[in-house]
Amino acid sequence: MRLIVGISGASGIAYAIRLLQSLRAIEGCETHLVISKGAKLAIRLESRESIGDIEALADEVHSDRNLAASIASGSFRTDGMVVVPCSMKTLSAIANSYGANLLVRAADVTLKEGRRLILVPRETPLHAGHLRLMHEAALMGAIIAPPVPAFYSDPQSVQDIVDDMVGRLLDLLGIDNELARRWQGPESGIDHD
Ligand SMILES: Cc1cc2nc3c(=O)[nH]c(=O)nc-3n(C[C@H](O)[C@H](O)[C@H](O)COP(=O)(O)O)c2cc1C
Repeated sequence: MRLIVGISGASGIAYAIRLLQSLRAIEGCETHLVISKGAKLAIRLESRESIGDIEALADEVHSDRNLAASIASGSFRTDGMVVVPCSMKTLSAIANSYGANLLVRAADVTLKEGRRLILVPRETPLHAGHLRLMHEAALMGAIIAPPVPAFYSDPQSVQDIVDDMVGRLLDLLGIDNELARRWQGPESGIDHD
């Protein structure tokens, strides 16, 4: 399995780190990582991990400026891409096929080849333009997976919330995992009314 992970400059770098750690633990999974310029700033400002620490989790790291990288071409076969977190700027670029950097170009290639593209957009509140861009990306085939915590799983820590989200991303990639806490129904029956 070969996957691309794109990190853009929104809050939520912890999701990307956990995803890369999880993919690294899977035998036979090759990861290609591209970190945008905006993400490098966000990493410095909100993560305890350094850019180098994060890059070390991937099999191959591509510069966001390298539009000649393997992942810029559809002829380089992959099993999909996750953009996590996805800033509104990167969402806009993807929805408009504005491939001025490698992250956006790789996402555009993923869509045009009919491969799975999962976007984890992070912003709140959302104006109509943000919602329109998500709608347009969804119409083109992207899966829009905002990092919205589930409280029914009774998270005890921030890490529980991050793990739950990353588990859902792995589910979307078709990867078995123990991270997502799965609802089994209430212990005792609950009447609707
Ligand atoms: C610490 C930090 C957090 C940010 N969080 C968000 C965010 O959650 N969502 C968003 O759309 N932009 C956020 N931004 C702004 C983006 O980083 C900025 O628009 C940047 O140009 C995005 O570029 P990129 O998409 O190429 O990474 C944040 C910026 C910083 C420095």
